Amino acid sequence: MSTRKGLILAGGTGSRLWPITQGLSKQLMPIYDKPMIYYPLSVLMLTGIRDIGIITTPQDQVQFQNLLGDGSQWGITITWLVQPNPEGLAQAYLIAEEFLAGESSAMVLGDNIFFGHGLPELLASADTQTAGGTVFGYRVADPERYGVVGMDGDGKVTKIIEKPEVPPSNYAVTGLYFLDGTAPERARSIQPSARGELEIVTLLESYLNEDALTVERMGRGYAWLDTGTHGSLLDAGNFVRTLQSRQGMQTGCPEEIAYEAGWIDDAALRVLAERYAKTGYGDYLRGLL
Ligand code: TTP
Repeated sequence: MSTRKGLILAGGTGSRLWPITQGLSKQLMPIYDKPMIYYPLSVLMLTGIRDIGIITTPQDQVQFQNLLGDGSQWGITITWLVQPNPEGLAQAYLIAEEFLAGESSAMVLGDNIFFGHGLPELLASADTQTAGGTVFGYRVADPERYGVVGMDGDGKVTKIIEKPEVPPSNYAVTGLYFLDGTAPERARSIQPSARGELEIVTLLESYLNEDALTVERMGRGYAWLDTGTHGSLLDAGNFVRTLQSRQGMQTGCPEEIAYEAGWIDDAALRVLAERYAKTGYGDYLRGLL
């Protein structure tokens, strides 16, 4: 089990998905058979993290609570936090400062979906690095659209450039950040950008300036999916559907991860399976027993 605390940043406006996200948070949208937030939550659980803070907008929080409760059904503890306005990804560390209580953390954006053979091992490897920060680089064809990492042969980050004209590599920085306990203090010292946000890249630069930022690469065999636009939302759903129907295995299934980790027992899983008795999801959970 990891001693890190988990954070999911699930606020934001979702304006690229309007009108569908005008009344409902993006991170509650379906990705095929599960709400979007199940996927990033599963990444934290796969890291072995059981103490998780979820940051939402004030108006959406009750719906997330209806869905996830206090996490005890999966053997985890959820702490509910609020971001009143979308003032940037790095603001999460200010909002969560008390919850983190000086511990290192793993933060994932609530709309990022990761899939890949070897993901648990990659997460475990990053989890062992307790000092400094780790970002996860994903190879993309069009790095100009992303924050891109330059790195040396040892995986140490040498630069991070937002939407570079001449990219230092093909590796985009994904929405998963493993940072040590100094992140809130660092977030307090950064200034908002021209668009009025506390930028995650600025926070990462504070680690970079001390030569304390590492990159784990996700190469061939990984999927990092974006869900922020109508097309990419549908593509992500189709990807999950194709994978699951072909393999007969779930991706992003918190019940399965909790059960495999021994955080819930047979009886608890049976109760969860019964709840979804009318669905293939329920059949799958029963099949795990
Ligand atoms: P974005 O996709 O950059 O922003 P958004 O979700 O508000 O969508 P849009 O651009 O269509 O208006 O956000 C990435 C993730 O981070 C997403 O899960 C929402 C979350 N987020 C916050 O929770 N708070 C913030 O201040 C920001 C900027 C994003």
